[in-house]
Amino acid sequence: MSDTLVEKFLQDGFVILEDFLNEEEVEELRKAGEALAENIPDNDIHTFKSGEEKRKDQYFLDSADKVSYFYETSVTENGNLDSNMNGDAETGKTSAPRNLLNKVGHALHKHHPVFGRVASSTPVREICYRLGLEDPAIAQSMYIYKNPKIGGEVLPHQDASYLYAEPPSALVGFWIALDDATTKNGCLWFASGSHKSGVHRRFMRTIDNTTGSNEVHLAYDSPAPSYPSSIFRPVPVKKGTCIVIHGLVLHKSDANTSNDPRHAFTFHVLDQKGSKYSPSNWLQLPEGQSFVSLYSNKHNLPASN
Ligand code: FE2
Repeated sequence: MSDTLVEKFLQDGFVILEDFLNEEEVEELRKAGEALAENIPDNDIHTFKSGEEKRKDQYFLDSADKVSYFYETSVTENGNLDSNMNGDAETGKTSAPRNLLNKVGHALHKHHPVFGRVASSTPVREICYRLGLEDPAIAQSMYIYKNPKIGGEVLPHQDASYLYAEPPSALVGFWIALDDATTKNGCLWFASGSHKSGVHRRFMRTIDNTTGSNEVHLAYDSPAPSYPSSIFRPVPVKKGTCIVIHGLVLHKSDANTSNDPRHAFTFHVLDQKGSKYSPSNWLQLPEGQSFVSLYSNKHNLPASN
């Protein structure tokens, strides 16, 4: 990663690294993602929708350290579940469950060798090093399907709203396109330079003590800000491209209205040196576990240049 690209990251809040993975590497990840979708372990339906205001979902909370499956919310809305999963009574059309997945996460890097290898690869560690991260560790990873015609939109957000740390700039996202991402199939859009305005809102754990159950609820601490659509620019990229994302930059993606899939592998790295990860974040590892350190072997530190 050149000085120019580091500058670009600091200036825009994201940077595009073309040909980050070669065709073989993309194919390996894509096959692994397809295999996950072909082998869904149970028939329970858990959904995920970007920007959903409130959640009380133990499956989601437990996914911090697991390989868990989330469907598009539209699968269960408006009685579509039966028609999507089992065939529409009128049209007879069916969709296999694999085509209705939103994502699998949030610890693929821990439990799947292919995803683990890419997330902790030398190029990733070198980027962390070039960005000045002193003790980067992988906090979460996800395989995103964004399936044809059903892959939902991701509302404008900052990743630091979900994985908040002090300072929030300690968070860096990696988003790797496994298909060509276009404006039709839901490429990312960025508000360039928006990472300089702090965290706009947070998605936090709260304890519901109204019922006496002390259940963990998840909710935003303030309503969704309204952002003018004019501040966002689409960033279509070829498969194999990695977009490195500042934790505070505003980004979004549209629904996939095309007939083409838009798979991606994404993960977030936190610089643990000098930062404090919030205990109010939704993602908390079980007692005694820690984020996967990228520099744990000091001898593997990328060479300075
Ligand atoms: Fe994001």
